[in-house]
Amino acid sequence: MDVAAFCRQSHVLVVVGKGGVGKTTATASLALMAASRGLNVLVVALDDSGDLPALFGRDEPFGYEEVELAGPDPASRLRVPGHVRARVITSDAALLEYLDEHGLRRVSRRLVASGALDIVATAIPGIEEVLVLGKVKQIERAQTADVILIDAPATGHALTFLTSPGGLVDAARGGPLRQQAEQVVELLSDPSRCQAIPVTLPEETPVNELIETAFFLEDSTGVALGPVVVNGCYPSREGLDADPAAAAAAAGARVQGAELRRLGAAAAFRRARLGAQAEQLERLSSSLPLPQLRLPFLFSAEIGPNELGRLAEVLAEQVTGLPTPSSAATGPAR
Ligand SMILES: Nc1ncnc2c1ncn2[C@@H]1O[C@H](COP(=O)(O)OP(=O)(O)O)[C@@H](O)[C@H]1O
Ligand SMILES: [Mg+2]
Repeated sequence: MDVAAFCRQSHVLVVVGKGGVGKTTATASLALMAASRGLNVLVVALDDSGDLPALFGRDEPFGYEEVELAGPDPASRLRVPGHVRARVITSDAALLEYLDEHGLRRVSRRLVASGALDIVATAIPGIEEVLVLGKVKQIERAQTADVILIDAPATGHALTFLTSPGGLVDAARGGPLRQQAEQVVELLSDPSRCQAIPVTLPEETPVNELIETAFFLEDSTGVALGPVVVNGCYPSREGLDADPAAAAAAAGARVQGAELRRLGAAAAFRRARLGAQAEQLERLSSSLPLPQLRLPFLFSAEIGPNELGRLAEVLAEQVTGLPTPSSAATGPAR
């Protein structure tokens, strides 16, 4: 499938998964891949900018104001024809802006300064999510970005994040809040506007959790699921079954005793790891009929711009390998 077409399938992509599986890394890789095909991408972080600046080779964290992480500028560490821009959207900042836009600037400052938002948030479950997603919806409607990627909070929280706008629609009798919540639900449940991209590792617990999350999302929120990103896949290696002594002799190398044993142990470890991985990938495929985009485990101390560039390339190869959705599935039969 064409990479740009893949990225344009849905305006808002919410990247979801358990903490530590590589959600932020996958978000950044997807963003860079899209920008490398000339698209304008906005990455939305929810609490703070976290590791995103470092991934793109920048030192400074960012906040509510949009910054450019990659683009055609020669000064950019990652030069791409499109743009990767990023910002943090918190519920406080979104509320401030909402009130400002509705002529309530003075009230809004006092509300936030007094910590009243926390009280409001406790009293009205779902309001924080509606504020944040309401802001995302506004950006989506303004069409300033081709793709908006949201680095969602860790799974438990991500589910509330995506389900609570629906709860608020049910709870609020009317008024601007209900209207805002309804518009957010409309966004979440329209696959041409919004999809969730689940991220996992090829390991038992993360795969279990992903399967549960995926079923829950489909059943309870109406959020469409895009392909799964399976991060941290060990690449298979040739020769893992070879006898180290014979392989060394064939290569004309002198390897002896302890070294031979270590080589044998390393090969056994990798064989076991690849076997377990294959089993989990198979289980994932049979439980969830979603395409898989596999990212390699990188054996480097840190993931910076060079590694991110590599991950974005692999991702593009994987997307290219996906079948193009048939016209029968997406349009009228001919
Ligand atoms: N493909 C990979 N290869 C090696 N390390 C990775 C890979 N993906 C992520 N990591 C590392 O794993 C850790 C968790 O990744 P991160 O993207 O921050 O996860 P999450 O956002 O889900 O918590 C980070 O230290 C990151 O550098
Ligand atoms: Mg993260």
